Amino acid sequence: MNRQEELAVGRRLLGHIDGRTTDLAEAMFRNRVSAYSCRERAALERDRLFRERPVFMGLSTRLPRSGDYLTEDVAGMPVLMTRGADGEVRAFANICRHRGAPVAHGCGNARAFVCPYHGWTYDGAGKLLGTTDKVGFAGIDLSSHGLVRLPVAERHGLMFVRPKPIGAGESGAIDIDADLGALVPDLAALKLDTYPIFSADRVAPRINWKFAIDTFLEGYHIPHLHRKTIAPYFIGNVGTFDGAGLHGRMCVARTSIDTVRPVAEGERNYRPHVISIYQLFPNTILIWQVDHIEIWRAFPDRDDASRCDVEMTIYKPQDSDRPDAYWEKNRDIAIRTVMEEDFPLGERMQIGFESGATEEVIYGRNEPSLVHFHTSIRNALGVAA
Ligand code: FES
Ligand SMILES: [Fe+2]
Repeated sequence: MNRQEELAVGRRLLGHIDGRTTDLAEAMFRNRVSAYSCRERAALERDRLFRERPVFMGLSTRLPRSGDYLTEDVAGMPVLMTRGADGEVRAFANICRHRGAPVAHGCGNARAFVCPYHGWTYDGAGKLLGTTDKVGFAGIDLSSHGLVRLPVAERHGLMFVRPKPIGAGESGAIDIDADLGALVPDLAALKLDTYPIFSADRVAPRINWKFAIDTFLEGYHIPHLHRKTIAPYFIGNVGTFDGAGLHGRMCVARTSIDTVRPVAEGERNYRPHVISIYQLFPNTILIWQVDHIEIWRAFPDRDDASRCDVEMTIYKPQDSDRPDAYWEKNRDIAIRTVMEEDFPLGERMQIGFESGATEEVIYGRNEPSLVHFHTSIRNALGVAA
């Protein structure tokens, strides 16, 4: 965020600490527990939230060189992303046009993709270069059997895909700045293209994908659930929240924020003391952790509303000379806190949601980020509850 914004957020946080307050939502929000467990709701979310909107795929530094590629299933769509010789990022359905095998696996660097099933070959721009049985496929038009293109965008060091093929007459362009709206100045200021990836971890907790995102959207639970891990470093139940369309930004203070008090207001450096948590709708949490970037993405399971896939990545600054052990420690703290404290409790809550004993959960006014997230979901789905 820019300097004025940093000072304003810092002032708001100190004001809340002094007044024992926090940013508040307009009202409490009641959500049906079925939103976390219902199959029909999950299908609607997949179509409206994941297939019709740009989905964040990682920082640009995941594909730093031409020829780099990655593959991932995004809400039921097998996706292949490549960086071409021209430096452009492209995305395709990772589905061979012969009989549908994935043409690429994992991630790496390749000049061409050879389908493992019968050897059809595609270039990094998705063009079918050749089949392997000239007689069997005599006359096939190679140019109309390339990989199916998906809309893609790369801006401010962030990559997005819309996992739905480009329709006839559609340009395939995504206006990501319009989508990110008020978050753009913050995200641009972070210079995210200067953070190479350090680690990627994946888990498949038995929770609905929204619960995985909820985990990051309030600091209310920190002094309770995380009292043995991160609680000593944060001021619990104190935060600022600013919505940006469907997205949002929450800022929380480290206990060290008190050290700025002796400094004149306009000269304070709040940066080491404030964690910014960006919620990129629908399924990404990008956390500016002062000296590195931590990103969580949650994807609904293909057919089970009670499961999701979660990825946690750590990106470190490219000019840092800290040893790997330092970043490893940060990774361990994140894993211990979320995967060993938040998600195991979440799995018990998911069982509770499905038991039928309660109908609702309540997000308090002191949890404005949660209220905004679930309001955004209802708005994007066009449902009232
Ligand atoms: S499915 Fe790819 S070559 Fe046959
Ligand atoms: Fe937590």
